Amino acid sequence: MHSDIVVIGSSNTDMVIKSERLPAPGETIIGGVFMMNPGGKGANQAVAAARMGGTVAFISKIGNDLFGKESIDLYKKEKINTDYIFSDPTHPSGIALINVDAKGENCITVASGANATLSPDDIDKAKYVIESARMVLIQLEIPIQTVEHAAKIAHKKGIPVVLNPAPMQPLSDDLLECIHTIIPNKTETEMLTGIKVTDWESAQIAANAIGKKGIPVVILTLGSLGALVKEGDQFYIIEAIPVQAIDATAAGDTFCGALCVGLSEGMAIDQAVSFACRASAVTVTKMGAQASIPYRHEI
Ligand code: RIB
Repeated sequence: MHSDIVVIGSSNTDMVIKSERLPAPGETIIGGVFMMNPGGKGANQAVAAARMGGTVAFISKIGNDLFGKESIDLYKKEKINTDYIFSDPTHPSGIALINVDAKGENCITVASGANATLSPDDIDKAKYVIESARMVLIQLEIPIQTVEHAAKIAHKKGIPVVLNPAPMQPLSDDLLECIHTIIPNKTETEMLTGIKVTDWESAQIAANAIGKKGIPVVILTLGSLGALVKEGDQFYIIEAIPVQAIDATAAGDTFCGALCVGLSEGMAIDQAVSFACRASAVTVTKMGAQASIPYRHEI
């Protein structure tokens, strides 16, 4: 079955506690209520794209457990093609521990489980769906060899590869060559370039540095500042919509999913980024990952 947007990445269950502030190393603090939510950067991006109206296939790996089964049921409810969600008989489904502070900032630790066993062979089983997509969206919560393999398959067929380099790790020249659009946040931008982004000027310098790696489109997501786009020599600044932040979890994922839908519908890059900024602004106003991702009519 053909899907416009193919998302390749992680599926997690998030264990979340919101507290006044994030704990320091060695410290115990009393937080608020505990929440268990569906998450994972890959899954969040697939759900965001589906809720924005995209036809989506999700390539991922879960464990043979209740968390994995519940995740698949949820993706099916979102009308995501789950034919290429593989099951690992020996590793558990991915789990993320998330602390959220009063300002909505978070700290996340992931136990990858089955996500870490999504292999190039699995990707080969999904080759048809990748090769018939309009674009492929990948993050870095799965093995980097798998990311490289999938990116090569798509690139070879001229299908744009959109990479959200989260969590950041070194990117090989082979991978960089395959990327059409990269979407790092502030922290990832600094890790990628060594440039601290504090304003639009430093953002432009950093985007130029990333562009020099041979990536045609660079989109920096800068939280409350907004997003900076570099397409060739052209820059666009998209100011953020001011919102009362409750939880930033999945804001970047919503942005990536919505952006791909906008682009696959033929929006110009600045329009698609503005659409994605509006979608992620809604996400920030609610608790949870997939629980906070809006449907299209809400933006
Ligand atoms: O981007 C947010 C996501 O990161 C969470 O849902 C968590 O599962 C981690 O993967």
